[in-house]
Amino acid sequence: MTTTRGLRDREEPITMLTAYDAPTAAIVDEAGVDAVLVGDSMGNAALGYDSTLPVTFAEVASRTGAVARATEDALVVADMPFLSFGVDEAESVRNAGRLLKEANADAVKIESGPHTVEMTRRMTDVGIPVMAHLGLTPQHVNRLGGYTRQGTDRDAAEEIIDLAGAHADAGAFALVLEHVPANLAGAVTEALAIPTIGIGAGPDCDGQVLVINDAVGLGEWAPPFSRQFGDVRGEMLNAVEAYEEAVRTGEFPADEHSHVEDDLDDLY
Ligand code: KIV
Repeated sequence: MTTTRGLRDREEPITMLTAYDAPTAAIVDEAGVDAVLVGDSMGNAALGYDSTLPVTFAEVASRTGAVARATEDALVVADMPFLSFGVDEAESVRNAGRLLKEANADAVKIESGPHTVEMTRRMTDVGIPVMAHLGLTPQHVNRLGGYTRQGTDRDAAEEIIDLAGAHADAGAFALVLEHVPANLAGAVTEALAIPTIGIGAGPDCDGQVLVINDAVGLGEWAPPFSRQFGDVRGEMLNAVEAYEEAVRTGEFPADEHSHVEDDLDDLY
């Protein structure tokens, strides 16, 4: 069983992938990935939304339950969706706690900023492990004006370094760094005692995370910082076309897929 402490003490690079359902989580877990993130990227990757903003608490909780039931070894991290945290501190802590108590997550991830430092401390105090997330935070797409690289000038980079330190001091057990320059991610990693997990943040983080659709080639598009390690979309398309053809031509179902009960002969 991977624990938050286990992640922190790992010598080798940490691996994390998203999963949004039980069969995918079982594969990710069987492959030996350290942590499964039930990301709010499910909005785009699994639910057909065009951003993460519409994803609801109920959707994350339901998907987290499915992932947790199928995962034996990996740490299950549930992403807190837009507005499920940050409006009211008590409500934020309660929502985070529900993801552990009702959906069986091991930890929560929060898209972080100055407003989440005290919240991280409070959650940690009551026993909820928090993975912080800085750099590109997709829930802020409207404020940022797009999914653009972050921390690209000195002031912005220093703000990220300071916020990373503040979240580590507040008790975060790990930090996701998304779409920031590799040298900034390297500096943050060097400065922190907790592990950094990068996505589009270069090779100097303590670990890497990708969205499962991008990693296995399930989507029609993947961001430039991702790599497709397979062609699941192509494989599924081949299988579905083969099924469609077999049914249309009468080749499926064959005798071996059917059951005949002798007593039922001569029904008419
Ligand atoms: O929602 C998500 O999948 C994420 C990762 C991309 C880090 O936040």
